[in-house]
Amino acid sequence: MEMTMQEAIRARHSIRRYKDQPIDRDTAGRLQALIDALNEESGLHLQLILDDPQCFDTFLGHYGHFEHADNYVAVIGKRTLPDLDERCGYYGQLLVLEAQRMGLNTCWVGGTYGHGKCRADKAAGEKIVCVISIGYGAYEGKPHPSKPLQKLCAVPEADMPDWFKAGVEAALLAPTALNQQKFSISLVNGEAVIKAGFGVMTKLDLGIVKRNFELASGHKCR
Ligand SMILES: Cc1cc2nc3c(=O)[nH]c(=O)nc-3n(C[C@H](O)[C@H](O)[C@H](O)COP(=O)(O)O)c2cc1C
Repeated sequence: MEMTMQEAIRARHSIRRYKDQPIDRDTAGRLQALIDALNEESGLHLQLILDDPQCFDTFLGHYGHFEHADNYVAVIGKRTLPDLDERCGYYGQLLVLEAQRMGLNTCWVGGTYGHGKCRADKAAGEKIVCVISIGYGAYEGKPHPSKPLQKLCAVPEADMPDWFKAGVEAALLAPTALNQQKFSISLVNGEAVIKAGFGVMTKLDLGIVKRNFELASGHKCR
């Protein structure tokens, strides 16, 4: 049986070495259908690129210790979208978690890939925000070291509603660039508010963290 979203949030770790094994046709079809649906809803232009060893076969790819990273999703959208980065994080993270449930592994990659070698079609006015490598992992990965909950959320644990606590815990498990975890979560009039801190790619991280929070808590956040 497929894992639940909560299980996928726990099981997901960044995987950089993959088995030398193409994604099977059925799974690739399901991924493509999911991407089509996400593009429809978000207005983004995510693209699944299969069997392309070039994108990570660069100095940066080797530097990042990527191996057999032959499949990826290019995360692309219109430059004019004011919330482009956050939106990419929010929709990309749903893709990452659904891929985990399909038995695949992933890694968000903003820096260590060949930027000029990404094979995606970029229309005029679009930007490649980052890529997500995807495939069958050569290892399981392990949980990242995390900041303590109190550093990211000032609400005392005893005062947290159950849904909010579940959301905060899932937010701590979210991937962030350089594992920086530069965000803060508060509870305002019964609603969760998540804000990005200052730094590189923190808006992309924000969308990722919000998605984890919402899926685990069952509550929308701001
Ligand atoms: C927006 C973003 C960009 C990232 N860019 C890179 C990258 O360029 N190279 C890399 O090896 N990992 C990259 N990562 C992966 C992070 O290093 C990783 O998510 C973090 O260390 C937490 O580990 P975990 O994903 O295993 O929980 C990126 C992650 C995010 C969310």
